[in-house]
Order: sequence, then C-alpha cells, then structure tokens
Amino acid sequence: MITEKQMQRAQEVLVTIENLAKKDFLPIIGPLKGKYLVEEIRKAKPKHVLEVGTLIGYSTILMGKELGRDAEIVTIEIHPDEAEQAGDNILKANMPPKVKIITGDAITIIPTLEGKFDFAFIDAEKTKYLQYLQLAEPKLHSGTVVFADNAGIFADQMSDYLDYVRGSGNYRSRYIQVGDDGIEISVKL
Ligand SMILES: C[S@@+](CC[C@H](N)C(=O)[O-])C[C@H]1O[C@@H](n2cnc3c(N)ncnc32)[C@H](O)[C@@H]1O
Repeated sequence: MITEKQMQRAQEVLVTIENLAKKDFLPIIGPLKGKYLVEEIRKAKPKHVLEVGTLIGYSTILMGKELGRDAEIVTIEIHPDEAEQAGDNILKANMPPKVKIITGDAITIIPTLEGKFDFAFIDAEKTKYLQYLQLAEPKLHSGTVVFADNAGIFADQMSDYLDYVRGSGNYRSRYIQVGDDGIEISVKL
C-alpha cells in the first residue's frame, strides 16, 4: 500500500508535469482522461502492466501510485531524452511498484518481453496501435484490460485498431468520450 506521504509526493510530481505540459504542449493523458485510467487500474488491480509511450512519466506515475510493491510496470519510450526525464520523475514520485523503463521502439521491444500482462496502456504512435496490440497479444490473457488514449481526436489514424478491438470478437470494447477526445477500453475475451 502507498503511504499518505508517498501519495502526496506522487501528486506533487504529477502537478509539476501537468504545469510543464501546459507550458511546453506535452501530450500527456492529463487529469481528465487520467481519471478513467486510474479508475480502470483500481478495478483491475494489475500485477504486471505494459505501457507503450512513456514520454516523461506522467501516466506511469498516475498508474503506479495505485499499485503495490508486488506490481511491476514495464514502460517503453523511443526517445532517450524523454525516457531519462521519465526516470527522474518516477524516482521523485517514489511509488511502491517496480518500474522498468525500456528505451527503444515498442515494435521491436514488445516481442522480447517476458510474462503475461494484466493491463496495457497504449499511447504512442497512433497509426501503430494495432501493431503494438497484436505484438502484445500473446502476452495478454482473458480479462486483460487494454486502455487506448486518443481514440477521439485520432480515430482516423487508429481506425484499423478501433475496427479490430470492436469487431474481431477477441475483445469486449467500449469508447468513452472525454471532453474533445476519447478513450477506448477493451477487455480481452
Ligand atoms: C502521447 S505521448 C505519451 C504520453 C504519456 N503516456 C503520458 O500520458 O504521460 C507518446 C510517446 O510515445 C513515444 N513513442 C512514439 N512512438 C513510439 C514507439 N514506436 N515506441 C516507443 N515509444 C514511442 C513518443 O516519443 C512519446 O513520448
């Protein structure tokens, strides 16, 4: 369990990143859609989380502060500078779970990952969501929750992904509009 002091620390880091994101136009999930991410993490209580697209660690911290010491988040970021900043922020936030940041292209990294994931958060290159998912699929199980950001504003770019999770019969999927964007939450059958 996270202590009150740890929670406060994590919140402070989140607010700092939110302010930086406003100033520098960083595409973090943000507090509005982030509330849904937190809600799904609380419901799923995952022990092993895959994140595709770390940026500077905002969503990693958002999820991590909900998890215990027995959980692990594996997060992939293609840009070394962002991955390094994420490492600093995650260290500052001092959350209970283990966080493994992997720097590189998720397309080549996902096939090398070991174990099964209970939760996946996809938030990198929009036209590649379907590829990320299908590469990760052998490592998902029935009940794994796949949470995809930007399913509203980038619906066109990720239409193959949305068609797949909604129509393949492999997932139970729902779209939630949040402000001018949306999220797609898909549970593997
Ligand atoms: C929208 S941002 C992620 C925001 C972050 N999830 C958050 O809410 O704080 C997308 C990130 O994905 C990274 N990215 C893009 N293509 C990638 C790839 N093929 N593999 C790994 N990371 C990638 C980008 O460098 C960028 O930092």
